[in-house]
Amino acid sequence: MGDTQYLHIRTFGCQMNVHDSEQIEKLLQGMGYKWTDDESSADLIIINTCGIREKAEQKVYSLLGRLKYLKKVKPGLIIGVGGCVAQQNGHEFLTRVPHLDLVFGTHAIHRLPEMVEGIRNSGCRVVDTAFRDSVQSLGIVAPPRNGAVSAYITIMQGCDNFCSYCVVPYLRGREESRSVDDIIREIECLKNHGVREITLLGQNVNSYGNTFHGGSDFPALLRAIGKVDGIERIRFTTSHPKDLSDELMDCFASVGTLCEHIHLPVQSGSDYVLERMNRKYTSGDYLKRVEQLRDVCPHISITSDFIVGFPGESDEDFQRTLDVMERVRFDNSFSFKYSFRPGTAAATMDGHVDERIKSERLSVLQSLQNIHTQLSNQADEGKVKEVLVEGFSKNDRTDVTGRTRTNKIVNFRGNIDMVGTVVSVKIIEGYAHSLRGEATAEEREKKHVG
Ligand code: SAH
Ligand code: SF4
Ligand code: F3S
Repeated sequence: MGDTQYLHIRTFGCQMNVHDSEQIEKLLQGMGYKWTDDESSADLIIINTCGIREKAEQKVYSLLGRLKYLKKVKPGLIIGVGGCVAQQNGHEFLTRVPHLDLVFGTHAIHRLPEMVEGIRNSGCRVVDTAFRDSVQSLGIVAPPRNGAVSAYITIMQGCDNFCSYCVVPYLRGREESRSVDDIIREIECLKNHGVREITLLGQNVNSYGNTFHGGSDFPALLRAIGKVDGIERIRFTTSHPKDLSDELMDCFASVGTLCEHIHLPVQSGSDYVLERMNRKYTSGDYLKRVEQLRDVCPHISITSDFIVGFPGESDEDFQRTLDVMERVRFDNSFSFKYSFRPGTAAATMDGHVDERIKSERLSVLQSLQNIHTQLSNQADEGKVKEVLVEGFSKNDRTDVTGRTRTNKIVNFRGNIDMVGTVVSVKIIEGYAHSLRGEATAEEREKKHVG
């Protein structure tokens, strides 16, 4: 390549998409592209899309509409769309968006350099949304930028669960796990780049290894990673309640570096709704697992996802969701209005709930969650927590920011020596979304904080 070519990527969607974007950047860097934050000076713009809800999809189309003027002022600009909506819409994308050059699906990331080169040479538009038996981009090691201490690693791709509302199995394909050796090799490499915390990613990490026919399973993987020297923290997401085994719960007690946090989406508290969602557990099963988790690990933080207004959800069903919230007192949660997704089983169900009722239920649920989150944060006041410091706070440069093992954000006075290290911090105040703390006297002396 002659003059420096610049790359800009916009990412929508889940952590897996965020990590895919890191891998995309790494691949394109290999062709000589340099990152730019400014889309107007980019020669290649990639939009990594999410189709989980209708709104996510709309955002993609409105961004693409906005980019049309850039292509006019810079005809050599290449615009590509990847990720889940690309997988779903394929060729249709090119018809709908005439200024688009490239559409690549969730299994075609590894072909990006070849496809971009082709467009540069021929000017032809390219689409690849083929599903492959093996996702070849899974093994691309992409350390986080700017010496960050925390990194994602995808341990499995796809999903075989077919929850009735969800598009992921159609857009990410069948479940496929990476080998333990591959994963450990990647972790060793990340560690050499300064990474201290890793988050294992998969749509349902609990079923890791199911495709190995009697080989390794998720608890065995956690134990193996627990032995990697220099990795101080392990996290994972997402867990499906139906596959949360006793052996996995025991890992919270036996693997020292495994953080005391589990994201365990319940979706609804009504057994009728859960059955229609094809979640394969009842609210009773869920509550039992929570109790077991707290027996093994009393201070574990538990977070969840909820969908309100699923087809057929009555006021009573919704009340059962609130009941489960009261019983569990989640430390935090994400909640969504049910979004109609064409092609899913729920799309053909009757009993679609009015938008206004969905909004009302969402607001009731979120108000209750805010109370529980604040209570959970206040309960930490006076306690000393281990905080892995990620960097300086955006609002106040004399403050550093990091996370507790329970995944809560803590801000406190600190300095550059603390970044990338674990600091003991006394929690002074619990707010709605974060904690305020103070490094212990011992730490302040060690790190020369006044
Ligand atoms: N594999 C993970 C996460 C899937 S997507 C899991 O099983 O939990 C993240 C969340 O989006 C889901 O947990 C669900 O709460 C929400 N979601 C998925 N499809 C949706 C839809 N059609 N409408 C509204 N929310 C949805
Ligand atoms: Fe979607 Fe269910 Fe798979 Fe999660 S487990 S990705 S909600 S089908
Ligand atoms: Fe969205 Fe695809 Fe993730 S639909 S939530 S980006 S797997």
